[in-house]
Amino acid sequence: MLTFLTVFLLLVSATPLALSSTPDHFLKESFSRPPRPPKAPQEYTELTHPLPSDRLTPSCTVDLLHHSFADTMNKPPFTVPYCPPPISTCPRPWSRVALDFQAECRGEQYDRVAGLWLGGAEILRTTTAEPTKSGIFWRVRKDITRYSSLLEKSNLTVTMMLENVVNKIYTGVYHVKVTLFFYRENVVRVPSITTYPSFSANLGLNSERLYGPPADLIMPISDDGNRGFWFQIESESDLRFKKIRFPRNAYRAILELYVSFHGDDEFWYSNPPNSYIRTNNLTTSRGNGCYREVFVTIDGKYIGSEVPFPVIFTGGINPLFWEPVVAIGAFNLPSYDFDLTPFLGLVLDGKAHEIGIGVDDGISYWLVDANLHIWLDHGSSKVEAKSVVYINPALRVQRIENFKLLDGKFRTGARRKSRFAGWVKTSTGNLTTVVSREFKFRNMLKFNNNGTYKSVTQRVKVKKGVKVMNEIGTVVTRVFVKRIYPLNVITLTLPYTKKSILPYTKKKYRYMLESKKKDRYMLVTNVSHALREKCFIGMFQSLVVTSQVSNGWIKVEDHSVLSGEGNTTQSYNFQDEYGCYSRSVEAKNGRLLSDNTTLSCLSAF
Ligand SMILES: *[C@@H]1O[C@H](CO)[C@@H](O)[C@H](O)[C@H]1NC(C)=O
Ligand SMILES: *[C@@H]1O[C@H](CO)[C@@H](O)[C@H](O)[C@H]1NC(C)=O
Ligand SMILES: *[C@@H]1O[C@H](CO)[C@@H](O)[C@H](O)[C@H]1NC(C)=O
Ligand SMILES: *[C@@H]1O[C@H](CO)[C@@H](O)[C@H](O)[C@H]1NC(C)=O
Ligand SMILES: *[C@@H]1O[C@H](CO)[C@@H](O)[C@H](O)[C@H]1NC(C)=O
Ligand SMILES: *[C@@H]1O[C@H](CO)[C@@H](O)[C@H](O)[C@H]1NC(C)=O
Ligand SMILES: *[C@@H]1O[C@H](CO)[C@@H](O)[C@H](O)[C@H]1NC(C)=O
Repeated sequence: MLTFLTVFLLLVSATPLALSSTPDHFLKESFSRPPRPPKAPQEYTELTHPLPSDRLTPSCTVDLLHHSFADTMNKPPFTVPYCPPPISTCPRPWSRVALDFQAECRGEQYDRVAGLWLGGAEILRTTTAEPTKSGIFWRVRKDITRYSSLLEKSNLTVTMMLENVVNKIYTGVYHVKVTLFFYRENVVRVPSITTYPSFSANLGLNSERLYGPPADLIMPISDDGNRGFWFQIESESDLRFKKIRFPRNAYRAILELYVSFHGDDEFWYSNPPNSYIRTNNLTTSRGNGCYREVFVTIDGKYIGSEVPFPVIFTGGINPLFWEPVVAIGAFNLPSYDFDLTPFLGLVLDGKAHEIGIGVDDGISYWLVDANLHIWLDHGSSKVEAKSVVYINPALRVQRIENFKLLDGKFRTGARRKSRFAGWVKTSTGNLTTVVSREFKFRNMLKFNNNGTYKSVTQRVKVKKGVKVMNEIGTVVTRVFVKRIYPLNVITLTLPYTKKSILPYTKKKYRYMLESKKKDRYMLVTNVSHALREKCFIGMFQSLVVTSQVSNGWIKVEDHSVLSGEGNTTQSYNFQDEYGCYSRSVEAKNGRLLSDNTTLSCLSAF
């Protein structure tokens, strides 16, 4: 999104664009839809769980920033100073803090990625919705209680990066307002809509129960901030580092990773291997196969990785799918937590240590950064720690390719299983933390009909557990999370002439390209994706299941949608020992047909 101008130019000259580069991202520009009275701005949403604090009255409010992002491409980010609300008007302690992000836009514009940082630590990664002529607006609410130690600091800088282009064609200016709400009341856990404090992030990724009470210290693993604090990763060998000196009384550490993928890797899960591109003389730069893994290192040593949840931005695949309900995670991208406590024994020597972030098989470009959350032993200036178990067999990626010219099948599979343990002796005792992580990745990419029919079937399964034991081996905490996220994308490219839709033939397609200056085609698109996350904490369980199914088609000229249809149904279900929350919506051609919310439990665990 960031560099869409260059991407645009590249693709226009690429003849087989429609064949090998789909899915793609598009602009709803010049798409005249049937009149929809009233022509008032429309609200867009990401289906998620209400925040536990949504029904409470904040004890105080801070206006964090208010800015219009117009022609901001290649400009420095927007910054404003931050000071915590004064104690006189905003008594401590806070029980919760919520971030409220509001945006509006009117006209024609691409989807854009944005990051929001406080003191260089990222607190929100979001993407914008593509606007319409009558205007759109949306709101993202995020629980940011985990950043409490930062929110208490004075003289910090708030930074927001949102690169946008405004000219005669792209007229949409993104008007953004961010407010913080501080709450004193405690959330009472009774079965009602106000009682779901478990999930700090939208998706249920990042369960707050795994995280626990806010850290004492947050140290950003990020860039210098001149172009936003994220690192821009261009290739697999592009590892980025930050040197960190850990306080010697740190007894617990969690690394929170933010990630989004753009440019040639926006649809990494559908990228064919380079052999396919070479053999067919394709000009697309979207290759390198369809496996990606973001990993974290300490002093060059692997300490964890994630296959990111495939968030689809609002211009992606078929932009008509994502109005007014955006794709899972598009407004509040998931972040990923790595418990580094077993590694404290390697870093508590008072020296600087290099924390690195990289993307296996990545191509241009990824925006990544991380926050190191550190808990301190207030009863001592120095704790003793040792890393005792490090089991991390090498990742094995299996790739089977079988293709003849433009048609074929590509299977990719990967599996990783690791286990780390270490003890930390603090002023209150000696605890051993065992962290286990396992994931399985499967992807099947198929091309038929001379490459015009493309299908992606992907499934990621993650299991992670954290067990804390005391010196006599008694388990004091045990949490376990199981996550599955399947994705299916089908695109069928058909030639498109203004009069009729003809079945594809190579001759016809060539004709079309030779006879028209612009690249014009029709895309039939189907997408389904989901997230299922089950979390076990001791005897308790919670479950999030969210899934979206979208069907439709678009007629496209270059990157603009001329006409089309799009259908999306989504259901979001949450359940824990206190109750349930479910919402289902049905949207068609930009309108919400139904929207049902219920607090009754639909099914047992
Ligand atoms: C914040 O910065 C101002 C001006 O630089 C300074 O006077 C003040 O002491 C600082 N406050 C804190 C808490 O550091
Ligand atoms: C690709 O280009 C080479 C060299 O121009 C040519 O020999 C080959 O037939 C082309 N392959 C295809 C599939 O068009
Ligand atoms: C694929 O292209 C070849 C050669 O141009 C043509 O003979 C064949 O009918 C096409 N196949 C399909 C399924 O369109
Ligand atoms: C802490 O506990 C572990 C495991 O029980 C033990 O191996 C280690 O020696 C203990 N450390 C200290 C400093 O007592
Ligand atoms: C997309 O899904 C619809 C409904 O399930 C189906 O009828 C259609 O054939 C699918 N399109 C493609 C290209 O597979
Ligand atoms: C939208 O969904 C309905 C019902 O599921 C289906 O009949 C219709 O064909 C869909 N429209 C498109 C464009 O896929
Ligand atoms: C919402 O409820 C109505 C009435 O019970 C039902 O007809 C509709 O299918 C429901 N919509 C969804 C998306 O579940």
